[in-house]
Amino acid sequence: MVKIKNDSKLFERAAKLREEIRLHEHRYYVLDRPSISDAKFDRLMNELKRLEAEHPEIVTPDSPTQRVGGAPRKGFETRRHHPPMLSLDNAFSFEELERFDRRAREVSGRQDVEYVAEHKYDGLSMSLHYEKGRLALAVTRGDGVNGEDVTPNVARIEAVPNRVDPAKCKRLGLDGDLEVRGEIIMPLKAFAKLNEQQEELGGKHFANPRNAAAGSVRVLDSRITASRQLDFFGYYLLAGGRTPFARHSEELEAISALNFKALEWKRCASIEDVKEYCRKWEEKREKLPYEIDGIVIKVNELWLQQELGFTSKAPRWAIAYKYPARQETTTVREVVFQVGRTGALTPVALLDPVAVGGVTVSRSTLHNMDEIERLGLAAGDSVLIERAGEVIPHVVKVVLRGKDRREVKVPELCPECGSHIHKSPDEVAYRCVNAACPAKRRESLIHFASRHAMNIDGLGNKIVDQLVSTELVKDFADLYELGVEKLAALERMAKKSADNLLREIAGSKSNDLSRLIYALGIRFVGERTAQLLAEHFGSIGALEKADEQALSEVVEVGPKVAASIVEFFSERANRNTIKRLREVGIDPKNAPKETVSNRFAGQSFVFTGTLARRSREDAGELVGRHGGKVVGSVSKNTDYVVVGADPGSKYDKAKSLGVRILTEDEFEALLEGKLALAQSGTDEKKPRGRAAKAVSGSTSRSAKKSTQTLF
Ligand code: IVH
Repeated sequence: MVKIKNDSKLFERAAKLREEIRLHEHRYYVLDRPSISDAKFDRLMNELKRLEAEHPEIVTPDSPTQRVGGAPRKGFETRRHHPPMLSLDNAFSFEELERFDRRAREVSGRQDVEYVAEHKYDGLSMSLHYEKGRLALAVTRGDGVNGEDVTPNVARIEAVPNRVDPAKCKRLGLDGDLEVRGEIIMPLKAFAKLNEQQEELGGKHFANPRNAAAGSVRVLDSRITASRQLDFFGYYLLAGGRTPFARHSEELEAISALNFKALEWKRCASIEDVKEYCRKWEEKREKLPYEIDGIVIKVNELWLQQELGFTSKAPRWAIAYKYPARQETTTVREVVFQVGRTGALTPVALLDPVAVGGVTVSRSTLHNMDEIERLGLAAGDSVLIERAGEVIPHVVKVVLRGKDRREVKVPELCPECGSHIHKSPDEVAYRCVNAACPAKRRESLIHFASRHAMNIDGLGNKIVDQLVSTELVKDFADLYELGVEKLAALERMAKKSADNLLREIAGSKSNDLSRLIYALGIRFVGERTAQLLAEHFGSIGALEKADEQALSEVVEVGPKVAASIVEFFSERANRNTIKRLREVGIDPKNAPKETVSNRFAGQSFVFTGTLARRSREDAGELVGRHGGKVVGSVSKNTDYVVVGADPGSKYDKAKSLGVRILTEDEFEALLEGKLALAQSGTDEKKPRGRAAKAVSGSTSRSAKKSTQTLF
């Protein structure tokens, strides 16, 4: 190691190391395309750590050592709320609502009090401070008096404006110094997807969308927050710590006018209207894309709010009407293990059937052995189960240990085929080692036929079960050689349904390449990756031949995905399946996209206005050939907005978000390599890698290994 002789050298060396480390972190975490080994990366980091430890005066707050990946920061800084972020009193019945109303009417001296009824979002409450129109501070509720400063993370959430328009503020009588309080939530779809990903990667499993939202904000690496598809809804606007309007409804209107997402709310002329609103949403809440746990009712007029005042914990002018919890307790009869497509064993709790929010629940996934350990669960225990939206129910906790409890043990042999079970040390999952395990076949076939894959309608679980157990289908290609007699002989099948199914199967032959690639069920190859691979390689044959180097040239394909694809095609059984598919006539082709360079890899472009030199399509095509992508709308994560003549609102949006704007000439210069790429492409400001990496939360930089076989 070089001995650093004087201070300026020391500074220089540290700065150089920081720059290099940032670059490699970006390549690793965001682009998924590291250019140095893990060991080399660790050496750089260790050198910087050592320099900083020996000379604490040179540590900069943004040094990589101060973040996850380096020495983690200890928690977050604390900030005080002015005024405190209070909680709400709860009402569990309409009688309680009527009592609340009676009091408000008495104090107001009115016949009826006007209310605002709002969805009560189940997330993480957040206070956002804007200074001179710019987002300056984001603080969690904490204990209501002191919260945590999570600004860098929250700034990465799309739904949180980084800036409020000064002209609009002015129109509302505000000066750009303001505070918006509201709720950060994770929509149900994003929640389901996150847990799926976490499972695949062996990461933490989140019990509900609220925990997932909190767990995505209270992290040390803001890229994780950015990748989690969080949403924000504002319900309070303060200026100088006070509400600057005469009515709460005006406050909500102002929040919307400032480009925050409006929460669902309604003005109600009386408590009867409020009850109606509560009833309506109780019925409809199942269908909402996010979880609500009740309705918040607020006195609309500020003067009356002030008259009613506060208790030490909550305002007297607001109340939360809580919907019955979709939680129930029941007993775990037994824990069984299901074998999935990849051979992974998933523990499932078989429960005493119980109605949870109108649906009878008799089983619940336990995800993996780590989850069982976390819950401390054994068969015979009483558990609390919860159902969120349409998401499958899960066990929240053990409420009472059973008298005669049986510890959950991973079976030594596969419950489906009796083969050995293996666990590799860097994975959570236990897997069946048998490539020909019927459970794997069944699950692979179900995936192959699924709607986003080959889309074979009518090939449901019951039929697949029989096709696999009778060994009529041992390989995807066998599907295409099924005859009507054999099919009609299966249970629940008649000649007509067999004919229909055969027609569906035959029809699936003309699916495009991306569907076929996705249908193969290669680990880590989801729909989007399948599409990119199809575009890049143009045929299964070309994909089969690609090595890791060739694969990593595809935008968004990182080392882990590339390794998985190579491994998949290295299995003889899989290659044989591909060959047989070809023989039955399945070998779709895509005109391969000519890639000129990877210069714009991971960069996104938006076009607005009319271009003079070439059509937008052609310009988009060129961006694609250099590895970039064209997107339709401007967001904080857009890298460039190219502006032609008479640009539309995208131009204003780009300006307000501070996205880099290019004239047509500048765009041409960029294409020719005469203009430098935006800094943002190489610093850690923007998330672009696959969410998978960012969500893994794991410090391991190595890809996980396990064999994959189709059938
Ligand atoms: S008003 C002083 N409005 O519910 C009143 N809260 O149980 C403060 N919440 O801490 C809150 N949706 O995190 C309000 N429309 C809404 C809400 C809402 C969700 C949360 C908020 C609060 C908790 C109280």
